[in-house]
Parts: sequence; C-alpha cells; structure tokens
Amino acid sequence: MSEKTRRIAFIPGDGIGIEVTAEAIKALEALIKSHGLAVDYRVFDWGAEKYLREGVSLPEGAFDIFRRDYAAIFIGALGDPRVPSNQHAADILLGTRFNLDLYVNQRPVKLLDARLCPLKNRSEQDVDFVIFRENTEGLYVGMGGVFKKNTPDEIAVQEDMNTRKGVERILVYAFEYAGAHGLKKLCMSDKANALPFGHGLWQRAFAEVRKRYPGIESRHLYVDTLNMELVRDPSQFEVIVTCNMFGDILSDLGAALQGGLGLAPSANIHPGQVSMFETVHGSAPNIAGKNVANPMAAVLTVGMMLDHLGHAQAAARAEEAVREAIRENVTTPDLGGSFGTRETGDWIAARL
Ligand code: NAD
Ligand code: IPM
Ligand code: MN
Repeated sequence: MSEKTRRIAFIPGDGIGIEVTAEAIKALEALIKSHGLAVDYRVFDWGAEKYLREGVSLPEGAFDIFRRDYAAIFIGALGDPRVPSNQHAADILLGTRFNLDLYVNQRPVKLLDARLCPLKNRSEQDVDFVIFRENTEGLYVGMGGVFKKNTPDEIAVQEDMNTRKGVERILVYAFEYAGAHGLKKLCMSDKANALPFGHGLWQRAFAEVRKRYPGIESRHLYVDTLNMELVRDPSQFEVIVTCNMFGDILSDLGAALQGGLGLAPSANIHPGQVSMFETVHGSAPNIAGKNVANPMAAVLTVGMMLDHLGHAQAAARAEEAVREAIRENVTTPDLGGSFGTRETGDWIAARL
C-alpha cells in the first residue's frame, strides 16, 4: 500500500446488510480498477452473529483505530430479531455516529428513472432534493429511563436534547451545501408549535443563520405539513434540514419517492474527519438470505463515499451504472425485476 492509499472499513453487519455489502465491494473493486483509485479496504465481522457468540459488539479502541487508520467506513445494516434489545446496533451504528461526531446525515432523494416514482406524472426533475438530518442529538441521545418497569404504574422518559451549537452547525452545513451546489431553495422543518423548548431553539438558530445567506430562499414548514407537501409536490424542494428523528422518518418517505428503500444511499459526515456511509434501509429480516435484496442503494452509497474522498468521476460512474441497470430492467423484485441481488451486482460491476 502506497503512502497515499486510503483505507475503507466495511462492516456488512446483519441480514441483507451482508448481502448488499458484498455487491458494494464488487462495485468498489471494479471502480478501483477502471479508475485507478488509490483505495484499499478491510472487512470487519461485527454484527449480531459475533454479539451472540462473544457478547462483543465492537472491540475496545475501535473508534480510535478508525480515526487513525481509515478514511471512510461503510456499514451494511444492523438489526437482528435474535437481539431484541438492538444493543449491538446501538453500539455499532449509533456508536459510530456519536463517537466520531458525524453530525451531518446527508440523505439525497433523486429519482433516477421516472417509471419508479409512485406519484402520478412525475419526471426525474421533479424529485431531486437532499435531506440534511442532524445526527448527534435530539431524541437519539439515549437520555432518560424507566421507573416502576413492568407495573401498571410504569413511567418512561426519553429526553429530546438540542444544543445551540449542534443545531447551528447542521443549519450552517445545509446552507453552505446549498450555496456550493447552486441550490436556491432551503426548507427547515421542526415542530416548534408543539415542542416550544427544543424546537424553539431550532427556530431561534434558524432565524439567525438564514440572515447570513440572503441569496438562498429559505423557509420553514412544520414537519407534518412538510410530509404532506413532499407527496403533493416534491419539485418545490432542493435542500431540507431537520432534526434527528424527523430526518429519519422523512428519509424513508423520500426513499419511496425515488422508487423504494432499495435505492436510497446516505452519508454520515464530520467535515475533515473520517466519515461513515450506509444505505437508508435496514437489515430487512423479512427478505434476508434469499438473494432478493436490491443492492443499488449500497452501490450508490459507495458512490457517495468515493465522491466524499474526492473521486467525483468514479462516483458519477456508479450512479450512471445503476441508472443503466434500471433502464435495462436489470432489477430485483422490489423494482419489478427478476434478477437476484448477486446477479444485479454482477451486472453493475461488469458495467463499471
Ligand atoms: P428495513 O429498512 O430493514 O425494511 C423495511 C422494508 O423495506 C421491508 O419490507 C424490507 O424487505 C424492504 N427493504 C429494505 N431494504 C430493501 C432492499 N435493499 N431491497 C428490497 N427491499 C428492501 O426496516 P425495518 O424492517 O423496519 O427494520 C429491520 C431491522 O433493520 C431493524 O432491526 C431495524 O432497527 C434495522 N435498521 C437498521 C438500519 C441501519 O443499520 N442503517 C436502518 C434501518 C433499520
Ligand atoms: C436509519 C435507521 C436508524 C436510525 C436505526 C436503525 C437506529 O432507521 O439509519 O435510518 O433511526 O437512525
Ligand atoms: Mn431509518
């Protein structure tokens, strides 16, 4: 490995995460060859299987190793019915987001082929926006507890934590991204009418940050209205920025607009530091092990990762190959095709 070779950590995880990551690696290998990329990778066997066998979700010092030796991390998916607590997923997935302070969760929603949109009469131009989800705070911080558990008087508290710094940095990132990509429309979404403390802070931070970007047409929608508007007319959105929980929910809706979870990639970023890339979908236990999962989201995620590492051409090629596969009807059953996960992955890798 030369000085400049950059290393990627692959964590296939559980269920279809394992299947789609295998195809993502095939695509990466093809791109390394065809574009002469100075990229190397290592696969880590962390997931439910290891957790059940050894009681370990990930080894001590894992995050220090990532920070020191890796340029990017790819996670397949985590979640297994045999681990009802979801502990290993919390440790590995949320652990990576929190420990590496990956405060930007970038989830693009791009219709690659008009035939895949569930809405009537929509073209590729109508569905093309990006969701920026705050990724280190909100309802996800795990603050709270239960009292009188398993009694009729049980009480459960789950705190929604919002910091001025945390909110401001994701808002600034979204505005900066819009500016850098020639995007003019930005929508901040919260639920300040019902959550006046936590989301009142979002309102105040937004009022201040938007003043610094007079060239960007920014507006606010409550999340219930945004949800409705995204279905009614997605063409009005270019950049959406919101809190952790709403970003999670909106991104599955966004995935549906582009043809399903099998097509939705994402990036978890801390600018200038090691970042993590994953599909929006989960481990899908209902279809795991059947060679039917769509590997395209994983291939597009490799594209986002390479773009982040400065390989824009290879990234564009990954997206184009997926577009070609869809056009040629080389698709898995979720997109109406009869190809398997591996066969679709092979076709894309050959194209690359
Ligand atoms: P899911 O995303 O795994 O599946 C939702 C539905 O979409 C299922 O019907 C599934 O079959 C389908 N689907 C998802 N990806 C697909 C693909 N690539 N091709 C074809 N169909 C696909 O969500 P879920 O069922 O709510 O969660 C299952 C497990 O995954 C849970 O343990 C959950 O916590 C976990 N999860 C993990 C991640 C992650 O690791 N990034 C993300 C979401 C959910
Ligand atoms: C996602 C997933 C995760 C989240 C779960 C598995 C904790 O749904 O990445 O969208 O809610 O962030
Ligand atoms: Mn989700």
